[in-house]
Amino acid sequence: MATAFIPPDYFRRYSVSEIFGSGRECEVDLGCGDGGFLLAVAQQHPERMYLGVERLLGRLRKVCRRADALGLDNVRAVRVESRYLLEWMLEPGSVRRLHYLFPDPWPKEKHHKKRMIQGDIVPVLHRVLSPEGEFLFRTDHEEYYSWVCEIMGASLLFRRGEWNDLASYPATDFQRCWESQGRTIYSARFVRNS
Ligand SMILES: C[S@@+](CC[C@H](N)C(=O)[O-])C[C@H]1O[C@@H](n2cnc3c(N)ncnc32)[C@H](O)[C@@H]1O
Repeated sequence: MATAFIPPDYFRRYSVSEIFGSGRECEVDLGCGDGGFLLAVAQQHPERMYLGVERLLGRLRKVCRRADALGLDNVRAVRVESRYLLEWMLEPGSVRRLHYLFPDPWPKEKHHKKRMIQGDIVPVLHRVLSPEGEFLFRTDHEEYYSWVCEIMGASLLFRRGEWNDLASYPATDFQRCWESQGRTIYSARFVRNS
């Protein structure tokens, strides 16, 4: 499958050119699921490169099949844990936008440590993003929303930004499901400080 990115070595960093065969602006969808958002945004912006990250093999295969069927040459999908990819496999400053959409909220207090956003990931997000790069977060879970806003807001590495183009931002598969149940959607955009 042309879309699958299977790293030959998990112990080194990759440039955008190595992953895509071209060095255009790169965005990453963290926990891309079945790829509804990833494929829609890649069609919206053929001039940009989109890397989907997913730990579940079945979902990743589905993304690859759908991207290949659509003939998208600006999408790659990799099976790896999101934080590991950001921390150890991508070159610093190589990502323009990180999309973190409807992640598992781990609502029970004893599971909060499993949430990807913790204080110590903020420098990791800062390092992988290019100057003025963005971290875009959406959820239906109010408490996780507050958690992320508090952690990101406490850091001088990012500032809160307006999100004016939300209307044209594609919906994710989970978002459609939550919206059909009438749930409120929370959105936050954080911009990397230089
Ligand atoms: C609730 S789903 C949301 C999927 C998609 N973003 C959407 O909104 O439709 C969360 C996805 O993230 C994946 N995931 C969870 N933790 C992950 C991790 N640490 N690394 C990579 N993928 C992860 C799950 O397998 C799942 O497909």
